[in-house]
Amino acid sequence: MESSSILVVLLFILPLVYLYFHKIRLSCKSKRLPPGRTGWPILGESLEYLSKIQQGIPYEFAKERMNKYSSTVFRTSLIGQNMVMFCGAEGNKFLFSNEKKLVQVWWPCTMDMIFPKSDNRPSSEHSKKLRKMLPVILRTDVLREFVGTMDAIMKDHLQKYWNRKNVNVSDLAKKYLLTLACSTFLGIDDERKVDELAKGTEDIGSGIHSMPFNLPGTALNRAIKASKIMRKEVEAMIHQRRIDLSENNSPSPSPKDFMSHILLEKDDNGQFLSDGDIASHLIGLVQAGYTTVHSTIIIMMKYLAELPDVYNQVLLVKKPNDRLSWEDLWKMKYSWNVALEVLRVYTPGTGSFREAITDLVYDGYTIPRGSKIHWIFDATHKNPECFRDPEIFNPSRFQGDNIAPYTFVPFGGGSRMCPGNEYARLAILVFLHNVVKKFRWEKLYPGEEVVHYPVPRPAHGLPVHLIPHKP
Ligand SMILES: *[C@@H]1O[C@H](CO)[C@@H](O)[C@H](O)[C@H]1NC(C)=O
Repeated sequence: MESSSILVVLLFILPLVYLYFHKIRLSCKSKRLPPGRTGWPILGESLEYLSKIQQGIPYEFAKERMNKYSSTVFRTSLIGQNMVMFCGAEGNKFLFSNEKKLVQVWWPCTMDMIFPKSDNRPSSEHSKKLRKMLPVILRTDVLREFVGTMDAIMKDHLQKYWNRKNVNVSDLAKKYLLTLACSTFLGIDDERKVDELAKGTEDIGSGIHSMPFNLPGTALNRAIKASKIMRKEVEAMIHQRRIDLSENNSPSPSPKDFMSHILLEKDDNGQFLSDGDIASHLIGLVQAGYTTVHSTIIIMMKYLAELPDVYNQVLLVKKPNDRLSWEDLWKMKYSWNVALEVLRVYTPGTGSFREAITDLVYDGYTIPRGSKIHWIFDATHKNPECFRDPEIFNPSRFQGDNIAPYTFVPFGGGSRMCPGNEYARLAILVFLHNVVKKFRWEKLYPGEEVVHYPVPRPAHGLPVHLIPHKP
């Protein structure tokens, strides 16, 4: 009798005790970290991720883990950092709308190694200052004035280098874009100097996306060397510009002369930036204005060779006189949709990074302050829920307003949206219009593959046979 009543009490109490502890566990759960694994020490899951990036399928890396752990966010370790990966439009929205509140832009330390600054502060801090100055040159009304110059540069370039049967599109697009970037950002049009600077850009591009180990023979090592050589060149230009400025005594240079602007800019302590820092900034700018646009232009040229319907629609643009204006470029809606579709299917780069500046909660998971967060373009660009038949190249999908917010993000978003997207638009359309007006073209290697790393590009640089239009 005695023992059976104890049993009844126990049976009654045990569930309560269980519930009590379970509740504590549940409340702990709201502080849980995102699920996932960090893999090997230091290397983490970098090698698996890099190999997916090289095959052009970084989203596969994410999808495997989204299936295994959580469809919205998971934990991993990349490029020597514990990393939280956000997957999808909701994640993009969260990151873009919480800039400076919960997160801030972060770059892998490879950036600081390639573009070192005198005070050893990280690039992300310097970039804030730079972004304050950038509008001077990337402002729409300033760029608007540049269209004529861009068009003249392109026409001159066509004259000089496209009068032959076969051309290497990668080489020529590179020449055009670097001439343009040097003219816009550095104010130089000396071809020899442009070629000099061109040599380093490829190496730097590869280094930015590599593992942060500076060992001989690595991509990072080559990038650091290339950047050093370029900085020397640019420092010499800066030196010359300082002399010119002091001789001219012109206190306010035209907005077109970005180098002079940045030379006259003072930092928060009222100090001028050092020549070395300015050189690092300017090379970073030239790099940013070149690599991604280069990839976009070559892939566009590839599709225009493969898809006559798309080519014909681009060709349709009527243009009474031959000199392009800013207004003309606005009328090239279809051409720009082709560029947007290229940016969706072959987005240059993989994604971008943020850092949590406070403990934050996302989708029920706690992400501690200081965590690095990675988001990737393909999580929406290649997601059938965001873009129907994502593998099909179809510029018309950008007609009208069919694109859901935070799904098409090649320029990032929020306050840290790429400030150069207008520059990129003009550079691409000026190139495309002028080439299409003169030629059709056929691929010399019909089955030429696209390699994906560090940015997408045809494996042999897209050699093509040019067919001039009949007069
Ligand atoms: C075209 O130029 C690129 C460099 O821009 C080079 O890597 C490639 O080998 C060239 N292709 C051919 C077929 O010469």
